[in-house]
Amino acid sequence: MSQDGRISRRTFCQSVGLLAGAAIAARASGQTTTKATPMTGHTNGDCWLDQTGQSLQAHGGGMLLHDGAYYWYGENRIAPERDFNGTKRHAGGGVACYRSTDLVSWKSLGVVLACSEDPQHDLYFGKVLERPKVIYNTGTKKFVMWMHIDTPNYGFARAGVAIADDPAGPFQYLTSYRPNNFMSRDQTVFIDREGSAYQIGSSDENATGMISLLTDDYLKPSGKFVKVFENRQMEAFSFVEHDGKYWMIASGCTGWKPNKARSAVADSFMGPWHELPNPCVGDGAEQTFGGQSAFIIPPGPANRIPIAMFDIWRPKDLKTSGYMWLPIAWEQQKMVIRHRATWRPIA
Ligand code: DGJ
Repeated sequence: MSQDGRISRRTFCQSVGLLAGAAIAARASGQTTTKATPMTGHTNGDCWLDQTGQSLQAHGGGMLLHDGAYYWYGENRIAPERDFNGTKRHAGGGVACYRSTDLVSWKSLGVVLACSEDPQHDLYFGKVLERPKVIYNTGTKKFVMWMHIDTPNYGFARAGVAIADDPAGPFQYLTSYRPNNFMSRDQTVFIDREGSAYQIGSSDENATGMISLLTDDYLKPSGKFVKVFENRQMEAFSFVEHDGKYWMIASGCTGWKPNKARSAVADSFMGPWHELPNPCVGDGAEQTFGGQSAFIIPPGPANRIPIAMFDIWRPKDLKTSGYMWLPIAWEQQKMVIRHRATWRPIA
């Protein structure tokens, strides 16, 4: 590990193959070079690298497309080991952000929301900060980050909110909520075609999903909400609009272990939602090819079709967790996801 807590690619990235830039490969082998060839893709399942060859720390992440650039926010799982009441474990590393225009080559913008040293604070490094997502409010011109805030035993079950003037941060933490006085774990946010924003989380001890309409400034729950997928035990919600409908991919609740993905469709974001079959097909589909849903990237300049982002969790050493991005197809009014060995943009 280097002085600043970052870890070299060879420590925990399984393979770079021929997909990474030549300059990075040469540097890792001790050669010097002045020529860099652009990255063309990443190996699904690996922990990917940023432009400088450092592992991408954007786990449980989400994507914001703003002014032609993609901003990937996620959990930074690289943090020093600290003492927690006599037990050594890794502290929280806050939220990291990366920028790209091609969805392959990622420039690190560093930690945009840092952890706190104050044990009373929601962002205390000994607590849980997962699944950060950022949306842009065109009225207030603020970037709004929502995230799952929890205690190590996951009993706190709240949604935290932070705000920034720039997508690259820094984000200022505001507060956390139990939306509508209900638990909120694995959470995400989504803006519908009318510009209304929603926070969606696993509620009632993860038995039931909950969609909460946010206030016009996107900073708090408005009080209008709906319980969805009651007693279906879902988490890791992700959403996309396609062909005039809203579509969802989620997982079941088996901790860090993969399970069979869920999918659903609705005409209106507040529902009613209709469940569809497991969207994954082919070998490994029953376990989501080893992954868990994180986010769906809507079409943009580097992806003409929606891309499902999955985490490949490695709970014994979370910073080594990998990524798997797979395009979504629509066949017979259902979402279909097939495994691919590599992620390459489909422009
Ligand atoms: C599954 C969730 O999706 C993850 O974000 C994390 O909360 C783990 N459970 C913890 O077990």
